Amino acid sequence: MDMKNKYEYFNIRDRCRMRLVKYLEQVLNNLPEFNNPKILDIGCGSGVPTLWLAEKYTGTITAIDTDKHLLDFLEHKIQRNNTSSRIETKNVSFFDLETDPEYYDLILAEGFLNVVGFEMGFKKVIATIKKNGYFIIHDEFKDNDEKNALIIKNNCQIVSSLLLDETIWWRDFYGQLEIEINKPQNAHLKSLFINEINEIDQYKKDPSLFKSIYYVVLKS
Ligand SMILES: C[S@@+](CC[C@H](N)C(=O)[O-])C[C@H]1O[C@@H](n2cnc3c(N)ncnc32)[C@H](O)[C@@H]1O
Repeated sequence: MDMKNKYEYFNIRDRCRMRLVKYLEQVLNNLPEFNNPKILDIGCGSGVPTLWLAEKYTGTITAIDTDKHLLDFLEHKIQRNNTSSRIETKNVSFFDLETDPEYYDLILAEGFLNVVGFEMGFKKVIATIKKNGYFIIHDEFKDNDEKNALIIKNNCQIVSSLLLDETIWWRDFYGQLEIEINKPQNAHLKSLFINEINEIDQYKKDPSLFKSIYYVVLKS
């Protein structure tokens, strides 16, 4: 694998992903102030939200993912940003993560629960987060009533939620990716964008499938 091309591809994806961070900011701005929080970012990927959290909060962040290539790229950005004293990356599955129970003040799972299964992932997060800690979930918008019921059944409250509809996903992500993919100077990266090209095709067939939601969950 040509690492230069791979990192160019990651950088383009990151620039598009960055346009969605304002929605995370919107949900976090409604929470009380945290004092040096201990944060866990589960399924951090290339860490666009991770690095943004490190700017917003003075605490420490554990960023975990099973994909070593993405974590290596995140490590490279951490070194460049001089944030290595506050961000620790771990190439581990969340289900094998060894941590004290009720340790974290704030847990972020963006696009993670829909990969591993909402109920199984949710229950383990709740065991990992402190009482009165917050869990921010960014999930596909599907089975909303069932998820709400599960959250409440596990002694948690939904403090707020934010729906990102298909127009947002096009304007802030897929539309931008399409522009980047079609730039002549990015033609050599086309084969790396295979999944994104498929997702853009799916979007064009049925945009209504591309809705997501933030749940801000408080463990009581
Ligand atoms: C949709 S991506 C989201 C990436 C990032 N959170 C973001 O919002 O840009 C989901 C990530 O979860 C990771 N993942 C999947 N299963 C995992 C597991 N069991 N433990 C930790 N990470 C996992 C994948 O490797 C992938 O990077």
